[in-house]
Amino acid sequence: MKKILITAGPTREAIDPVRYITNYSSGKMGYSLAEAAVKRGFAVTLISGPVTLSRPEHLAEFVQVVSAAEMAEAVKKRFPLMDAAIMCAAVADYRPVCISQSKIKKNGGNLLLTLERTEDILQTLGKIKQPHQQLIGFAAETDSLQAYAQEKLRRKNLDWIAANLVGRTDRGFQSDDNAVTLYGAHGEIIDFPLCSKRELAEKILQAIFPESSSF
Ligand code: PMT
Repeated sequence: MKKILITAGPTREAIDPVRYITNYSSGKMGYSLAEAAVKRGFAVTLISGPVTLSRPEHLAEFVQVVSAAEMAEAVKKRFPLMDAAIMCAAVADYRPVCISQSKIKKNGGNLLLTLERTEDILQTLGKIKQPHQQLIGFAAETDSLQAYAQEKLRRKNLDWIAANLVGRTDRGFQSDDNAVTLYGAHGEIIDFPLCSKRELAEKILQAIFPESSSF
């Protein structure tokens, strides 16, 4: 049985005990991929940020994380045991340098937060990837989708990248539907027009793993 690791949802980067930085990811795209992979006979490890979705059935493992650092630790520990990984999570790119231990009190002026880069987990996986492993990323862009996605495909040493437009209500973050263009490391370009995330997840897996079949 082939083993696949899938990440989903947002991460939360704490500012103080009551506030955090996050994004609009609902987890729907990643959870749909996990469900579709279970249906195709994969042993699925789902690593999820905080979402309100029900946990998919018949997973090999479910790992709940909150921050980008927790997601990085969970992913890097498991990746060497996997045949493939799909990074669908919207991992925060920046986190506060200092987390205040007590609630930050408001005063008359502005509040300045200093942010530092989080680890690019996908890029780390691209460096340690073995020849038998397939590494798939997502690219969430508001513009220049093809150029940015193909740059990430190369820079992160991916086999495939699923590029989707965000910042619209009919697709991307939170919507039940999505559209992606899949770019492959060997020049493949496959367009999947707008459809439900469940349907799209099936189509993405069929394209990347044609030898597996849904039951
Ligand atoms: O969750 P939904 O509401 O269903 O929305 C789905 C989605 C829009 C979140 C999903 O389809 C999607 O695009 N996920 C990737 C979001 C993202 O973070 O894209 P990016 O272009 O910023 O990052 C590129 C890739 O690097 C992604 O695979 C991401 O998981 C990975 N990454 C990013 C930052 C980081 N620190 N570590 C990473 O591994």
